[in-house]
Amino acid sequence: MSSRRELLKLLALSPVLAGASSFAFAANKVKNSESLTQIITRKIPSTGELLPSIGMGSYQTFNIPEGSQQKDNLIQVLQAFFENGGKLIDSSPMYGRSELMLGELIAELKPSPQLFAASKVWTYGKQEGLAAIQETMQRMRVQPMDLMQVHNLRDWEIQLSTLNEMKQKKQLRYTGITTSRISQYEDFEKIMRSQPLDFVQLNYNMKVRDAENRLLPLAKDKGIAVIVNMPYEKGRLFQLVKGKALPEWANEIDCQSWGQFFLKFIISHPAVTCAIPATSKVHHMKDNMQALKGRLPDTKMRQKMLQHFESL
Ligand SMILES: NC(=O)c1ccc[n+]([C@@H]2O[C@H](COP(=O)([O-])OP(=O)(O)OC[C@H]3O[C@@H](n4cnc5c(N)ncnc54)[C@H](OP(=O)(O)O)[C@@H]3O)[C@@H](O)[C@H]2O)c1
Repeated sequence: MSSRRELLKLLALSPVLAGASSFAFAANKVKNSESLTQIITRKIPSTGELLPSIGMGSYQTFNIPEGSQQKDNLIQVLQAFFENGGKLIDSSPMYGRSELMLGELIAELKPSPQLFAASKVWTYGKQEGLAAIQETMQRMRVQPMDLMQVHNLRDWEIQLSTLNEMKQKKQLRYTGITTSRISQYEDFEKIMRSQPLDFVQLNYNMKVRDAENRLLPLAKDKGIAVIVNMPYEKGRLFQLVKGKALPEWANEIDCQSWGQFFLKFIISHPAVTCAIPATSKVHHMKDNMQALKGRLPDTKMRQKMLQHFESL
């Protein structure tokens, strides 16, 4: 902001650029360059807290064996994530050693990053659920958890009531449910309609858009934050565009790669709070985090993106 104000002041004083049209032109240029450094955030509807619109998943990518050489690389992946404005990291006890690795590696980062820690409960039974949540917090080294979700609706009545109790006791800040299966959408919708929820997490990307029909509008309507999983359809979207150049007009929404194109399509949906691509590669993380900057497509542009993608 201040650089823009300073330039405007400078321009007003400049005898060369004092003409109205050059003034407007220069101011617009600054506006664009500002939007390339500012990150895109969305409010969590239940509190108004701001979240950056790109987070990070950890399925497979952080499930590495003990003593693996991959650790150094994953620290750099995390560094690139936080340095570029990332905050929300999603995990689950279902992802093998991912929670443990995240806890261990994030503790090594200096300075300590601003983490929004999200994980899941994925078990049956009251006591088992409580024990599993405690283990998650220990493995991720976070207390209270920012967000706990019922993974794939498993034993959801019991587990969601535990999450609500824990939220009351301030042992976690937000509750949610997740799915990535269209066959669960009907049950998912019923729960969204009947239960208090801060977040839902669901699958949505340029290829699989079923969530647009009912779940995304419902989330918007009810004021529930939306985390989008499988934004690249587990990497399959890249196969579909292999060898194809980005359209020139992708520049208009500041996209330099297919990854950014796919992510900006998702985060420009009015119901979406953030998308959580997973990667084990530093250069992919840097690529993904670029989608957090610059211009977003409007409704017309989203339609154009879709038509182009479907024509490939
Ligand atoms: N029900 C649930 O709760 C549920 C279900 C599914 C997923 N999730 C969550 O959502 C997260 C994301 O979903 P996902 O991991 O299944 O799949 P995804 O994020 O759609 O795709 C991951 C794949 O994309 C590749 N990739 C990432 N960035 C790239 C880039 N810039 N360019 C090219 N390739 C790139 C990765 O390979 P590289 O490692 O080579 O980059 C990886 O193979 C999960 O990690 C998990 O946290 C939750």
